[in-house]
Amino acid sequence: MTSDQAPVYWPLVAAPGLPPTGAQIGVDVLAGGAFYADPMGWVLREDVGVTNPNVFCFGKPGRGKSATTKAFILRMLDFGYRALILGDPKDEYEPLAYLLGVSPIAVGPGLPARINPLDFGPLASGWALLDREQAATRAGILFGRWLTLLRGLVGSQRVGESPVPFGPVEEQVLKAALRELTGYTTGATTLTETTVPALWHLLAAPTDTLVADCRYATARQLLDETRLLRDALGQLVDGALAGLFDAPTTITLDWEAPLASLSLSRLLPLGDDAVGIALTCLSSWGRGMRELAPAGDLRITVRDEVWKQMRLGPEAVKSFDADLRLSRSSGDIQWANAHKPADLLSVGAAGSQAVTIAKDLLHLADTTILHGQDAGVADELETLLGLPPIARDVVTRWAMHGKGRALWRVGDRYYKVATVLHPLEAALADTNHAITGAA
Ligand SMILES: Nc1ncnc2c1ncn2[C@@H]1O[C@H](COP(=O)(O)OP(=O)(O)O)[C@@H](O)[C@H]1O
Ligand SMILES: [Mg+2]
Repeated sequence: MTSDQAPVYWPLVAAPGLPPTGAQIGVDVLAGGAFYADPMGWVLREDVGVTNPNVFCFGKPGRGKSATTKAFILRMLDFGYRALILGDPKDEYEPLAYLLGVSPIAVGPGLPARINPLDFGPLASGWALLDREQAATRAGILFGRWLTLLRGLVGSQRVGESPVPFGPVEEQVLKAALRELTGYTTGATTLTETTVPALWHLLAAPTDTLVADCRYATARQLLDETRLLRDALGQLVDGALAGLFDAPTTITLDWEAPLASLSLSRLLPLGDDAVGIALTCLSSWGRGMRELAPAGDLRITVRDEVWKQMRLGPEAVKSFDADLRLSRSSGDIQWANAHKPADLLSVGAAGSQAVTIAKDLLHLADTTILHGQDAGVADELETLLGLPPIARDVVTRWAMHGKGRALWRVGDRYYKVATVLHPLEAALADTNHAITGAA
């Protein structure tokens, strides 16, 4: 028998220890020593078996995901890392920001901050100096990112129960429209920034160039055949994106500051979908901003509460997947917090392409942190993450008996870790004050 069948005989089987580098997180309960997390350092070592520095952190609400995230950020600052919070739906990173002397940027209706998800980011700088090939490569990256985002946004709109379809026709039309709006079609020496409303206007009043580019006989035909696409964009323009993501970016992030955070709590009254759309826009924008990041610019990019984004549908999941997969800044640790692995699956019928994508997504992070889960989630831990029975029980039992307790899967090794917070950090991480105040 193995430790799976008769664990009682192997009570203290501990994985080989990890090197004591990076952030000291807490206690490795099986080994009895300290546990250190160093995702980037692990990638560089032969003996750890990790090939990417990404981290997915799962757990039932209130089990300590965000607290562990904050502790990790705070402790990695000493090693030259900075943090970028791409959307903070509960404004819970604000105390951390103030502690570090930075003001978080609040995004919400009536506030001045605008973020253009169709921002060029650093890729369009010095466009006139690029040769043809370089310009074509950069344009490929830019248009690719925008199309993935637009696909996610359009696909988050619904006709009855099903998402608005987004196929090759929609893609061609949007691509041609974006090229025209930015001046890429005419070979402009500097590209013009465009926005989602501008895109919608062009589709509503197509120019002759656009009609010809998309090979429609008349403007009427283009209008008729792209009605659904246009209306879906229109919904976004006066719905979820209105006044937030529909104009050129007005904020400047201080990339030298230890932390930059975008607070989204003001969107909560608008509903989960609006928050999900905001997170989708920020996720894509954040990826764009990090293109061409200089080597050695180490950053932890946090996407918290990503389930709100996942729930928008398969296209939103694809957009998230692309943001993680195609992130070209090699110094980034991409960190995402979700409730349970099936969050990523709730998007489609079992066996559908969406589910396959979501399953693939789980493999995008070589480090998975599993905070406590209800017993009902045990099966999905096994089927989706391939957790063996002992590990599964650690998540559904042991980790449920203390906040901050989690099973860390680093490559194919498991560690039972309890995050230890300093009293100051505990005060920063306290998300229960509303409940405590009410009691
Ligand atoms: N390691 C820990 N030790 C003590 N308290 C913790 C720990 N982790 C989290 N908490 C407390 O538990 C509460 C919920 O934690 P939080 O990180 O917001 O959960 P989640 O993000 O998983 O919903 C917070 O009030 C926090 O202070
Ligand atoms: Mg949280």
